[in-house]
Amino acid sequence: MAAIVKIVAFFVLLAHSVKCHSSSSLSAADRISELPGQPRVSFHQYSGYVSVDEKEERALFYYFVEAENDPASKPLVLWLNGGPGCSSLGVGAFSENGPFRPSGNGLVRNEHSWNREANILYLESPIGVGFSYAANSSSYEGVNDKITARDNLVFLQNWFLQFPQYKDRSLYITGESYAGHYIPQLAELMLQFNKKRKEFYLKGIALGNPVLEYATDFNSRAEFFWSHGLISDSTYGMFTSACNYSRYVSEYYRGSLSPICSKVMSLVTTETSKFVDKYDVTLDVCIPSVLSQSKVLAPQQVTESIDVCVEDETLNYLNRKDVQKALHARLIGLNRWLVCSNILDYEPLDLEIPTINIVGRIIQAGIPVLVYSGDQDSVIPLTGTRRLVHRLARLLKLRSTTPYRVWFAGMQVGGWTQVYDNILSFATIRGASHEAPFSQPERSLVLFKAFLEGTPLPQEF
Ligand SMILES: *[C@@H]1O[C@H](CO)[C@@H](O)[C@H](O)[C@H]1NC(C)=O
Ligand SMILES: *[C@@H]1O[C@H](CO)[C@@H](O)[C@H](O)[C@H]1NC(C)=O
Repeated sequence: MAAIVKIVAFFVLLAHSVKCHSSSSLSAADRISELPGQPRVSFHQYSGYVSVDEKEERALFYYFVEAENDPASKPLVLWLNGGPGCSSLGVGAFSENGPFRPSGNGLVRNEHSWNREANILYLESPIGVGFSYAANSSSYEGVNDKITARDNLVFLQNWFLQFPQYKDRSLYITGESYAGHYIPQLAELMLQFNKKRKEFYLKGIALGNPVLEYATDFNSRAEFFWSHGLISDSTYGMFTSACNYSRYVSEYYRGSLSPICSKVMSLVTTETSKFVDKYDVTLDVCIPSVLSQSKVLAPQQVTESIDVCVEDETLNYLNRKDVQKALHARLIGLNRWLVCSNILDYEPLDLEIPTINIVGRIIQAGIPVLVYSGDQDSVIPLTGTRRLVHRLARLLKLRSTTPYRVWFAGMQVGGWTQVYDNILSFATIRGASHEAPFSQPERSLVLFKAFLEGTPLPQEF
């Protein structure tokens, strides 16, 4: 009985506090006063938890950075990393397009941060990723695309209660890799929801090196490896005829790996070598992180321009107690924050759900879509993505309004682009990895700005 009284009292108090305080104080508790080792900045940062299921105690962790200048006039952009199971905080915010990158004991500014153009919301999704959690660990089993999309939608609805000034703001959803599933699925849920009551002012989606149709995406890997010299002619032959990659993955996840697929993949793995980053075949690897998985030593040169060890530095930074305190983060049911979750048990066969047709429906609803590819990525190579986009344009009977051409960033070619009916765009980012804003920050920012403004990519310099 006493417990019930207490619960009632709690809700009364909560209702009271909601009524009495202005909406901005709802977000005030999540305001970050300063991240340890952070350079001085003028924009506001917030982070914390938003419940997506009160009863089951499931909550998602977010990190929100307001635009550097005049946030009230800038759109809201949701960023999602893939995996499934990798963190938008650790990968997106701290290695790709956020305002800071860890370095030594502190943080350094990223000159090409996307919050120059927008208010960016990084979401660790689904539950079990990063600081996001469920009180009952059995909730981590069998998480799938459907649950993820619904949780992401509920997250946004509840986040808007805390940040009502963003509720009617132009909204864009961006992300990469397995977010090629998350984003179209979330966008479609929003459009369905809007039919009942307009709640999401969705203005566009951008998908970077996305999984859109796994067989086309994965089978373009063989040619990419081969044309970049990572595998021999004979292995290429086997990887395209005896067992292709989509067959391998499909057998692997069903626990029925055939001897031929096992043999082909073992050849491919040996020839490509673990000392080449599959997410950027021209980039050096971070030796500490490779060696943590192997005892083999191989001499490697250190690059000056790109910090390939940023993931290790992020891991150290986000596991500092002072950093977690500043972020209002807690480790629930885990002893360490990880870049990619090891507790989430995501439904592997959802990988095979094609999302390219959902992208088609989003376009038919009038929402612009940008699909872009870091062109050094062998995991989701540009060639498969370009083929899928072209096929979709044909299916929807879209005309090519901008024929395939180069675009510029600074005085150099930033990549190639093609636009269909000013609603479906494809672009490559030259010299970029799977995590394009990590390896080509300036070019990625040019692309992002053009996407938000709905303007053509620079045709000249
Ligand atoms: C966790 O969830 C499972 C499955 O729904 C349930 O059987 C179990 O009792 C729950 N555990 C706790 C501690 O609530
Ligand atoms: C991959 O292999 C599967 C099964 O053998 C086959 O159905 C499919 O056509 C192949 N795809 C390509 C692109 O070779």
